[in-house]
Amino acid sequence: MPVITFANSKGGSGKTTSALLLACELATERPVTIIDADPRRPITKWATLPGKPERLTVISNESEKTILEEIEEASAVSTFVIVDLEGTASRLMSYAISQSDLVIVPMKEQTQDATAAVDVVREIHRDMKAARRKIPYSILFTQSKVVAKSRTARFVASQFRENPDFHVFQTEIFDRDAFSALFSVGGTVRTLSKDTVRTTEEAVKNVQSYTHEVVKRLKDAMGIKNADAA
Ligand SMILES: Nc1ncnc2c1ncn2[C@@H]1O[C@H](COP(=O)(O)OP(=O)(O)OP(=O)(O)O)[C@@H](O)[C@H]1O
Ligand SMILES: [Mg+2]
Repeated sequence: MPVITFANSKGGSGKTTSALLLACELATERPVTIIDADPRRPITKWATLPGKPERLTVISNESEKTILEEIEEASAVSTFVIVDLEGTASRLMSYAISQSDLVIVPMKEQTQDATAAVDVVREIHRDMKAARRKIPYSILFTQSKVVAKSRTARFVASQFRENPDFHVFQTEIFDRDAFSALFSVGGTVRTLSKDTVRTTEEAVKNVQSYTHEVVKRLKDAMGIKNADAA
C-alpha cells in the first residue's frame, strides 16, 4: 500500500503539519498509519489528545534500524502509510525515502527553504540510484499567506512552478490558525470547535483539495486502483 514520506531537512518547513492534515483526511475513509520518526514526537503527542480519527494509527519510530520493518508492517495493515521525518538529513531519511511511493517536500516560499528543498531533491535522486528505481516526489508550498504574498514568496514559488524538473502541487497549505491549533487541542480540522478557531470551513476545503491532489499524484505515479479515497 502506498507509502508517503514528508522530507525536508530545513526545520519548520511544515512537514509534521502537512503530514498530519493528510493522514487525518485520508483516515476519514481508509485505514492510515502515520509513523512519527521525529525524536521530539510531535504526532505521538498529538495522538494523546482527544479526537484522533478511529482509522488512524500512530506509531513512534524506534530508530533508523527499525524504520524498514515499521514501514513494512504498517503497509500490511493500512491503505496509506505516512512517514513524518525530523528536520535533519539522516540515514533514516534515506531509508524512508527508499521505501516511498511518493516523497512530499514541504517548503515555505522562502529562500532558505528553497535551498533546503533543492538539497532534498538531490538526496532523493541519490536514493533513486541506490534503490535502482524511480521515486516520485512533489514540492508542497506550506504556510502560504492567504492574502498579500510578498515579492520574495512569489519569486520563490515561480522558480519552482516554472521549472519543468519539479512537480509542484497546485494546492498550497495556507497559514491558518486551524492548522497550528490541532497540536494543542487535538483532533482534525473537521472536528475543531468554532470556539477554538473562527473559520474552519476554508481550512477544511484547503485540506480536501490538497488530499485530492496527493491521491491523484499517487495514482498517476503508481497506477494504483485503490487510492481513490479522497
Ligand atoms: N499551514 C500552517 N498554518 C499555520 N501554522 C503552521 C502551518 N504549518 C506549520 N505551522 C506551524 O509552524 C511550525 C513548524 O511547522 P511543522 O512542525 O509542521 O514543521 P516541520 O517541518 O515538521 O518542523 P521540524 O523540522 O522541526 O520537524 C509549527 O509551530 C506549526 O504549528
Ligand atoms: Mg516536524
